Amino acid sequence: MDRELVIVIDFGGQYNQLVARRVRECNVYCEIYSYKTDIEKIKEMNPKGIILTGGPNSCYEEGAPTYTKELFELGIPVLGLCYGAQLMQHILGGKVEKAPVREYGKTEVHVDTTSKLFTGIEEDTVCWMSHFDYISQAAPGFKITGHTSDCPVAVAECEEKKLYAIQFHPEVLHTVRGKEILSNYVYNVCGCAGDWKMDSFVENSIKAIREKVGDGKVLCALSGGVDSSVAAVLLAKAIGNQLTCVFVDHGLLRKNEGDEVEAVFGPNGDYDLNFIRVNAQDRFYEKLAGVEEPEAKRKIIGEEFIRVFEEEAKKIGAVDYLVQGTIYPDVVESGLGGESAVIKSHHNVGGLPDYVDFKEIIEPLRDLFKDEVRKAGLELGIPEYLVFRQPFPGPGLGIRIIGEVTAEKVKIVQDADAIYREEIANAGLDKEINQYFAALTNMRSVGVMGDERTYDYAVALRAVKTIDFMTAESAEIPYEVLNKVMNRIINEVKGVNRVMYDLTSKPPGTIEFE
Ligand code: XMP
Repeated sequence: MDRELVIVIDFGGQYNQLVARRVRECNVYCEIYSYKTDIEKIKEMNPKGIILTGGPNSCYEEGAPTYTKELFELGIPVLGLCYGAQLMQHILGGKVEKAPVREYGKTEVHVDTTSKLFTGIEEDTVCWMSHFDYISQAAPGFKITGHTSDCPVAVAECEEKKLYAIQFHPEVLHTVRGKEILSNYVYNVCGCAGDWKMDSFVENSIKAIREKVGDGKVLCALSGGVDSSVAAVLLAKAIGNQLTCVFVDHGLLRKNEGDEVEAVFGPNGDYDLNFIRVNAQDRFYEKLAGVEEPEAKRKIIGEEFIRVFEEEAKKIGAVDYLVQGTIYPDVVESGLGGESAVIKSHHNVGGLPDYVDFKEIIEPLRDLFKDEVRKAGLELGIPEYLVFRQPFPGPGLGIRIIGEVTAEKVKIVQDADAIYREEIANAGLDKEINQYFAALTNMRSVGVMGDERTYDYAVALRAVKTIDFMTAESAEIPYEVLNKVMNRIINEVKGVNRVMYDLTSKPPGTIEFE
């Protein structure tokens, strides 16, 4: 596709994906490549701009990640961030050394507003700093256009050669004007037009899929999750009923979820696709009978999923293409460098069958970040409640029930979870909390209801705030909301006489309660 491109060269910084996402938020397409990528390859891509990321090393030490000086002589604007800024200065004759004072956190920075990077920005603004080393002397030909009280060269630039070095992190939200600074870079310095928009992505993808598929047959495993839903609808718009979607209801979905997915994608839904719902609840419950260990449950569910999918695929016969919901973070994480990325099996499915008979894989979302997948979904007219779904694990409620999974326990956790979600939404907390659900503990205890003694299960409520799902804090839900949820669950869900709220952060806990 002929579109303008900015590339991010990754030096191992923790914010590499964030840099690319921020550039894309400015409507400029951006890809990430390892610092090991050959310069010839970069020249071939002919990017409008290059951004060097931060990284954990000291650029003056032997063996530290580096890049050929030629990069700065291509006439392509280069923006170095943190380590990238130090490396640029180091290579071009500036001085980088250990800073007398380590800067970390929100820091006041004074910038020269005549710089193209700082157009429209106040002279004094707050940025996010995180560095041990600092640029003690800018390279020849560079002008210092930003400093802090501890950092004499917070920004250095050579406007003529379009080279910019920023010690702080504009990609991090704590840098108050970070977004504007990156926008100034891509528009004022690189001269981008801003052609990366989700409506044109959708339009171009539909065209490209049509060309590729011709009149071939395409198969898609649809889970109802965001990625596979968006991929399926994109395909459906492109090739209509040449597409077959297999939706396996393993009986471990949230309350009414199977019907909701069917309502949207099934024969009475909005899309022209061959939707096959396989009601495989009993098979899964049978396989799970007597199994208590969470990993064993995961394996059984994953395996059985594949078996069901295989059986359906066999009925359909040979297909030309299989759709996978791979997204850009999967591509980046499975090997930087833009080499053809390892194809990951769909993470909600846990690996697709080896012998489904197909010629090629189609990954329509492999260039998109999650927020872009959601935007594409809205663009395609997928209902908001599907587009903004919280993450839901492939093994579903199978891992939110501690101990053995039975149909009775599934019903309990579905009902409790539905009440919890409803009340969180009623309290207007659903946008603030990143993931929340009910789980069923395996604990039964004595209670009293009416005049009767009960001996029933305890439900655990979980709610977390997280950005990356790698770490998380439990959410502070107002007591009255929790109280209402507790009351409703006890009154409305048979088999439950206690409700608990899980306060554990991750680590040491996990987000799931399995
Ligand atoms: P944990 O429990 O590991 O979860 O802290 C982190 C995030 O991953 C989700 N999760 C899964 N997602 N398939 C998925 O697609 C899975 O098997 C799976 N297990 C956990 C979990 O919901 C949370 O968002």
